[in-house]
Amino acid sequence: METSYIIAFDQGTTSTRAILFDEHGKVVAISQKELKQYYPQSGWVEHDPEMIFNDQKEVFEAVVQKAKVPLEAIKGIGITNQRETTVVWDKKTGKPVYNAICWLDKRTEAICEGLRERGLSRYILKNTGLVIDSYFSATKIKWILDNVEGAREKAEAGDLLFGTVDSWLIFKFTGKHRTDHTNACRTMLYNIKDMAWDQELLEELTIPKKMLPKVQPSSSDFGRITYQDAEFPIYGVAGDQQAALFGQGGYKSGMAKNTYGTGCFMLLNTGKKPSFSKNGLITTLCCTLEDKKPKYALEGSVFVGGASIQWLRDQVGIIENAEETNAICQSIPPLEDLFFVPAFNGLGAPYWDGNAKGSIQGLTFSTGRKELVKATVEALAYQVTDLIKAMEEDSGKQIKTLKVDGGACANDYLMQFQADLLDAQVDRPEMLEVTAWGAALLAGIKVGIWTQKDIATLRSADQVFEPEMDVRTRNHKQESWELAVMRTRSGYA
Ligand code: G3P
Repeated sequence: METSYIIAFDQGTTSTRAILFDEHGKVVAISQKELKQYYPQSGWVEHDPEMIFNDQKEVFEAVVQKAKVPLEAIKGIGITNQRETTVVWDKKTGKPVYNAICWLDKRTEAICEGLRERGLSRYILKNTGLVIDSYFSATKIKWILDNVEGAREKAEAGDLLFGTVDSWLIFKFTGKHRTDHTNACRTMLYNIKDMAWDQELLEELTIPKKMLPKVQPSSSDFGRITYQDAEFPIYGVAGDQQAALFGQGGYKSGMAKNTYGTGCFMLLNTGKKPSFSKNGLITTLCCTLEDKKPKYALEGSVFVGGASIQWLRDQVGIIENAEETNAICQSIPPLEDLFFVPAFNGLGAPYWDGNAKGSIQGLTFSTGRKELVKATVEALAYQVTDLIKAMEEDSGKQIKTLKVDGGACANDYLMQFQADLLDAQVDRPEMLEVTAWGAALLAGIKVGIWTQKDIATLRSADQVFEPEMDVRTRNHKQESWELAVMRTRSGYA
């Protein structure tokens, strides 16, 4: 019988990719482009929505040509995307009214402060699962409506549409205005208990409901893409972090994963009832299937993970590529009290300090290039450890194994250091494209190629890192890191 294939679109913060998977979950072909970042002012981060669409179209066509498989064997498309990033466009012309405001953008801090002052923190946490922060889409939409000439009038007349990047791509490829639950719940406008847009918040933020997309299960029919007379149904859509949890087999409650991407995102599936954190985590929806009840996850979002390694390469110029950091870390003895807190865009979970700025602490004359690189790599592991500690406290359960994915996972030093700090196993899969794989699975489940039960058998571990560090060293390092973070906080004097 002819082999079936699924294509995943993975539109991330810094790159746009298309990956073709076969029915055994093997990567057959990849095509990708780096995404240009725009920094018009300090703390502002934008993307060009037309570039996002054109790049996605280009890599899609390139992967189809590269793979040389019959078009009819490609049974569907799954889309996974950077979440929260906000696009507002004209319904008739399909032209954006402003650049995409990236999730990392901090310009709406003042709007957030206003919401906090109006006493909305508790309502927002209990109904959307989120803490009030400029990270989420709601205040970005409001900013566009308030600052782009004519936008509010057009939105009220029903002429403008809003979408996260998945919606934008679906609209451009199919003309439909849709999103899935995992993306909707990152807007700070979606009620995760009622599974509907929250009327009260729309009124508070003066956002017309007619701008919002229809919300569907992550594995369902989102429309069709036409290419060379063939039609490809989009059968899967999910925010990248929930897609990665799904790809890791995290549809079961109690499973946790961390993705080391631009940021670090840890999700723990907590089951069919939302549980709310007392330790700075947020509550989010897991990928949804058409015939199943929704499941919830606790999420810890760290804004700067792999982005700090990119910073070492592009701004500081002390490495040529991310791959060399493993050898650098392994080549020098353990660091003595040198800490880098990469709060370039404030601090996310569990601190939520939008005004914090990055710092390096513990410099001595023996600190050189290699030490700085090592401290940057170690910062990823410390931040993830902060998240796990918060999660363990909230859930009352010890996490014994952490499943990991994302680019920085290829760094063995980081994986071992992570296992040491956590005092838990770190389980790295053979195939690291887990985010795209999660989206492919969602589409493949709708097509009928796989069932949810197949996910575990399709995943194989590459290496499990066991903790080796002694308790005293671990405790000392952890306490010193906490002190370094404290000194970095905006209120520290
Ligand atoms: O919430 C932001 C997240 O979705 C971005 O993911 O992979 O682009 O860093 P990534």
